[in-house]
Amino acid sequence: MKIAIGSDHAGYELKEFLKKELKKKGYEVIDLGPENNSVSDYPEYALRVSHAVSSGEVQRGVLVCGTGIGMCIVANKVKGVRAALVYDLYGAIQSRKHVDSNVLVLGGRMTAKELAAEILNVWLTTPFEGGRHKERIKKIEEWEEICFLKS
Ligand code: RB5
Repeated sequence: MKIAIGSDHAGYELKEFLKKELKKKGYEVIDLGPENNSVSDYPEYALRVSHAVSSGEVQRGVLVCGTGIGMCIVANKVKGVRAALVYDLYGAIQSRKHVDSNVLVLGGRMTAKELAAEILNVWLTTPFEGGRHKERIKKIEEWEEICFLKS
């Protein structure tokens, strides 16, 4: 599985840590920046990763800023992206089972590295349940069609 990862300065350290964890597990990781922890703007990196997911270049995306909130807002404005801001294991599981989230958003100032790595692992290995949840996602996609026609 190909995974794109990005952060801002507040998420940089956690991004670097998670990148190593992913590589250890054999995932192909595309780091879309930043290259260091100099002050940077989260929308730029959220859009890079979200477009990589939306275009199909990668199957999943991981974003990290201070709280994850800014990244999550931006990512969900990109067609086909279902970004989930996750702070615990239950959220990670549910975001996959029910929502088929394709972008995981974490807060570098919110979640310890070890827990973040566990969340990421659970998120990558939990399958989507389908069934009634598929119908709900179809409704999101229908709404996306209307939004993207307008913009
Ligand atoms: C940066 O200071 C901070 O605002 C950003 O990382 C993020 O938490 C926004 O939601």
